[in-house]
Amino acid sequence: MRPLIAGNWKMHGLLSHLLEIDTIAASVSVKLPDADILICPPATLIVRAAELAAGRVAIGGQNCHCEISGEFTGDISAEMLKDAGASTVIVGHSERRQHHGETDAMVAEKAKAAWRAGLLAIICVGETQAQREAGNALTVCGAQIAASVPENMVSPSNAVAYEPLWAIGSGHVPTASQITEMHVHIRRCLVERLGEQGMELRILYGGSVKPDNAPAILALPEVNGALIGGASLKAADFLEILGALPPGH
Ligand code: PGA
Repeated sequence: MRPLIAGNWKMHGLLSHLLEIDTIAASVSVKLPDADILICPPATLIVRAAELAAGRVAIGGQNCHCEISGEFTGDISAEMLKDAGASTVIVGHSERRQHHGETDAMVAEKAKAAWRAGLLAIICVGETQAQREAGNALTVCGAQIAASVPENMVSPSNAVAYEPLWAIGSGHVPTASQITEMHVHIRRCLVERLGEQGMELRILYGGSVKPDNAPAILALPEVNGALIGGASLKAADFLEILGALPPGH
């Protein structure tokens, strides 16, 4: 399975930060990576980022509304992201679930909107520290998969990202066996939900992926790529993570 290395810039980035995308694009056009590369900048930068990346790096959105258009002040539809040059959209990131009250059902509607618009979707799931300590991590993520992944999610280019909330921006990462256990569980849940097609979706790991821990994480056979926050803001860090992909992963 071809890995996906995706950067999520969150609410970071002014026009001057497009230089980072330019640097990444220049580097991957010299040495073609053995992976799909995606950067999701703030919506304000998507048009310019897509022009600059010129297909060498895919550009994505961080969220979308489920309707095509309408009286939804401040929202952006999947069709608008596509029109701006995005190929992909992240849906159900834990920061959207926490700060904007997004439910599994809303996330599923957003994923459907993404495909309606011709975008790929990265659907995020993950447990809190308290849920893990209570021994409920697998159940919580399984329930999120069941309710946030639409039944007809079939394109192999779509992805699910496992992002434990306690690992995001904290510098703490799960152990290799915790990541493996969860990715195996998510795969099982996807197959239950989608049949054979559930084998084809990529399962990314996200949460404090950095150049120093990326080699060990990306070497895990159940990990089909990474969703990177902080370390995607600097081209040098992002490229180092990309370079950590084991050959022929
Ligand atoms: P982080 O963020 O790499 O800064 O922990 C990951 C994410 O939230 O997608």
